[in-house]
Amino acid sequence: MSTDVLTVHAATNPAHTTWVIQPQGSLQGRTTIPGDKSISHRALMLGALASGKTTIQGLLLGEDPRSTANCFRALGAQISELNSEQVQIQGIGLGQLQEPTGVLDAGNSGTTLRLMLGILASHPDRVFTVTGDTSLCSRPMARVVTPLQQMGAQIWGRQSDTLAPLAIRGQHLQPIHYHSPIASAQVKSCLMFAGLMTVGQTTITEPALSRDHSERMFAAFGADIAVDPDTYSVTVTGPAQLQGQAIVVPGDISSAAFWLVAAAIVPGSDVWIKNVGVNPTRTGVLDILEQMGAEMTLANPRTVAGEPVADIHIRHSQLQSTVISGAVIPRLIDEIPILAVAALFAKGVTVIRDAAELRVKESDRLTAMATQLQKMGAQITEQPDGLEIQGNASLKGAAVDSFGDHRVGMSLAIAALKATGITTIHRAQAAAISYPNFVSTLQQLWQS
Ligand code: S3P
Repeated sequence: MSTDVLTVHAATNPAHTTWVIQPQGSLQGRTTIPGDKSISHRALMLGALASGKTTIQGLLLGEDPRSTANCFRALGAQISELNSEQVQIQGIGLGQLQEPTGVLDAGNSGTTLRLMLGILASHPDRVFTVTGDTSLCSRPMARVVTPLQQMGAQIWGRQSDTLAPLAIRGQHLQPIHYHSPIASAQVKSCLMFAGLMTVGQTTITEPALSRDHSERMFAAFGADIAVDPDTYSVTVTGPAQLQGQAIVVPGDISSAAFWLVAAAIVPGSDVWIKNVGVNPTRTGVLDILEQMGAEMTLANPRTVAGEPVADIHIRHSQLQSTVISGAVIPRLIDEIPILAVAALFAKGVTVIRDAAELRVKESDRLTAMATQLQKMGAQITEQPDGLEIQGNASLKGAAVDSFGDHRVGMSLAIAALKATGITTIHRAQAAAISYPNFVSTLQQLWQS
């Protein structure tokens, strides 16, 4: 029988909701998860830039893709009302973006802002202004502005052009070979988008492989793209001719990760998660959970619209501590908050290193997770680039805060499933950024 493991309360400020979690049970059954956020953004952007019609099945209906859709509507693309059945886009055609009358608002979405910058900077003779919410306006933009300026882009913003709001005067850009100091799919994809409109070869080399959804989808839309897997390099030869496509978005492994960890740590749990994107550049979370001793199997592997997909079965088991560092970090960058929760219930001390990037996500995720889990009684030490987490934790319910960060809020909710007493999570509405039906899925899976 399902119970109200999680109840949602409106706070005094109507924009804020609080989750109250009172666990006593386990997770059972099967579920599907919402569409992949990274793939949803790219499908909307390429569909908007292509000639002809694009259809998207399984689009994530979170706030981040809504920000992308609204920006590209303002730039002239005809995008139907968003739904998970079938979104229709009538593309503008590459190079045909309109100068919008207002400011383009990327909301909370770093992917929207950074990828769009490459597109805007390479559209000559038009001026654009872009902004975001308080979190996004404090996140570093130099990582994309600097290489775009090397291509000849004209971009202005606060603090020497490193912070949004930004103003862009589109230019004919010059192709470059950019050696990125960080493995970041947002940096890579920004420059790939700039390369679409730039005559010649734009190459990006990364220190480690980041997610490759752009590479796969650029090829599907007909862009001239070459990947060198040995050097983690990708080359886009422009100008491109993009043709609208039918895209099917798989479930987001970053959202599946909450149920994978919940089932692994809550005794008696047994869960199937259907239709999960298992692109190898994203499956670091599966490798680490396996290394920790999770009882997990992948079934029914298949390829859907160029992306690998599988169903995942996971059951509770005693986890062991591990070290999470090095080349796996970009493959699980968004899953570190929830893996920190898994580590609390493993035997031994888990060490997370090489993850300083977490300090410049939607919140400082290292500080957010360490301080909020400490309130619940966890022993976690924050390091400049990671966390040290004492396992075998006994958590007590407490009042904690999401920091306005979707992944922090949902990770704390999973930790609360293992706490004694009641946990309240403030600013929990942030979950709608990437997982609008997180609460109903938890209520559906929870059996007391
Ligand atoms: C994303 C890339 C990652 C990830 C983000 C989505 C993307 O960011 O954290 O949630 O869609 O390209 P970085 O490229 O900054 O690591």
